[in-house]
Amino acid sequence: MIDLRSDTATRPTDGMRAAIAAAAVGDEQRREDPTVNLLQERAAALLGQEQAVFLPTATLANQIALKLHSRPGDALVAERHAHVVIYEYGGPAAHAGLMIEPIEGRAGRFGVAELEAATEPSTKTADQRATVLAIENTHNSSGGRCWPLEELEDVTGAARERGLATHLDGARVLNAAVATGVDPDRVGRLFDTVTLCLSKGLGCPLGALLAGSVATIERAWREKHLFGGAMRQAGIVAAAGVYALDNHVDRLADDHARAHRLAEGWHAAGLPVDLDQVETNFVQLDVGALGLGRDEALARMREGGVGLSSTIHPTIVRAVTHLDVTDDDIDRAIELVPEALGVRAAA
Ligand SMILES: Cc1ncc(COP(=O)(O)O)c(C=O)c1O
Repeated sequence: MIDLRSDTATRPTDGMRAAIAAAAVGDEQRREDPTVNLLQERAAALLGQEQAVFLPTATLANQIALKLHSRPGDALVAERHAHVVIYEYGGPAAHAGLMIEPIEGRAGRFGVAELEAATEPSTKTADQRATVLAIENTHNSSGGRCWPLEELEDVTGAARERGLATHLDGARVLNAAVATGVDPDRVGRLFDTVTLCLSKGLGCPLGALLAGSVATIERAWREKHLFGGAMRQAGIVAAAGVYALDNHVDRLADDHARAHRLAEGWHAAGLPVDLDQVETNFVQLDVGALGLGRDEALARMREGGVGLSSTIHPTIVRAVTHLDVTDDDIDRAIELVPEALGVRAAA
């Protein structure tokens, strides 16, 4: 099967496996693992922050950040379909006691007016209020869409004026950086904390980083222990992260080019793809326009040899390009998917 379900499908390359095998390691909990320490330094600099802490998953990085920025009974302002809102099992409520003040975004984005409306106190009890803003870039549920730098500057500036802490769920922020040509540190430094995921486009087996100020990351270490995420010879996996930062960042442009080519091929074959929405490594197909249900469409494509996945939108499925997808895979997917869905381009 050509696996376009998610960019989490990647397996470590030979080069990455060699880096893992050669990793210098130590006790991470004692902060004595040299490879973890190196990865943390590299990630902090890349994201325009003072320090970073290595974590097993981006979910944990997000949850620690939200907890650090709030007290139980505060509200989190986030786009309605943000990962922290719909895919983290209510973590903001479970771990931090946060209520959610959702904003209906466009392509995952929103403006200052919407932020201001969402931060209006809902009661006269002054102490019950929004204290944290989370932004997702690229935005997963809208199909890997990017925030322009100026919009991020405006919204984070307005949040700060209103006393909110700011968190960037930048699980795929390097995809955004490569697609927009804006260095990731210019985006990262707008926020109090930044999550970066290593196990998506960067191709690592696991791992994420949370970056922020020295004081914030010191507090994050305590939460890392509390959540059970403090590890030992974690340099074994951190080595994959260092390797990925050296070798797998610029090549994200290849994933984006392949997603564009796939979208154009499907569009030319008559499939309902909105080419303007393809900004990074996601291609969304609205199979409802073909009179098909999502599950039936996914099953037919899988039978035809191509794996796509569902989205939160009932009739939209997605294809995601990544390190393990070749040009040849794209050529075949351009042929196979229209056939599986019963759509043939006019000869
Ligand atoms: C935007 C975003 N944030 C966070 C995560 C969570 O990543 P992890 O699976 O490493 O917890 C994901 C995973 O898909 C994501 O897309």
